[in-house]
Amino acid sequence: MTDQVKKFIRVDHAGEYGAERIYAGQLAVLGRTRHAETLRHMKDQEEVHLKTFSQLITERRVRPTVLLPLWNIAGFALGAVTAAMGPRAAMACTVAVEETIDEHYRAQEEALELDETEIPLRDTIAKFRAEELEHRDIGLANEAEKTFGYRILTRIIKTGCKAAIKISEQI
Ligand SMILES: [Fe+2]
Ligand SMILES: [Fe+2]
Repeated sequence: MTDQVKKFIRVDHAGEYGAERIYAGQLAVLGRTRHAETLRHMKDQEEVHLKTFSQLITERRVRPTVLLPLWNIAGFALGAVTAAMGPRAAMACTVAVEETIDEHYRAQEEALELDETEIPLRDTIAKFRAEELEHRDIGLANEAEKTFGYRILTRIIKTGCKAAIKISEQI
């Protein structure tokens, strides 16, 4: 396994961990609204993604990022704060996060393209990426773009996600 693949597994594990926390934070605020079922559906899928990368972390002896406690708090806070701004802002958060993950996974798929030993990993990433795009579409279908300050809000969240990705790859 290359160092690059180790890095991929570490950062993807961190990302899926954070994603699960975001939806948990949104559910803490919106769990008794008509959006609860949609949020639970996305959270359930993130749990599967997380479980898969947790297994890979163990099987391949990859050190997880030391920042999991931070992503626990930051993810939950991001979810809860956007949800407190209203369901549309929660959905805008989803669009921003999932678009960032789409790009991130797409780059990994490209990087793994010529590595025949990592076909299963690439397939896993491709499958998860399709589900992240489904989440983005759910956000768009639920009026994310009608959020007050949609552009600035999504830009801030994307910048934060990209920083979290960079940091989690390294430490
Ligand atoms: Fe995910
Ligand atoms: Fe997702």
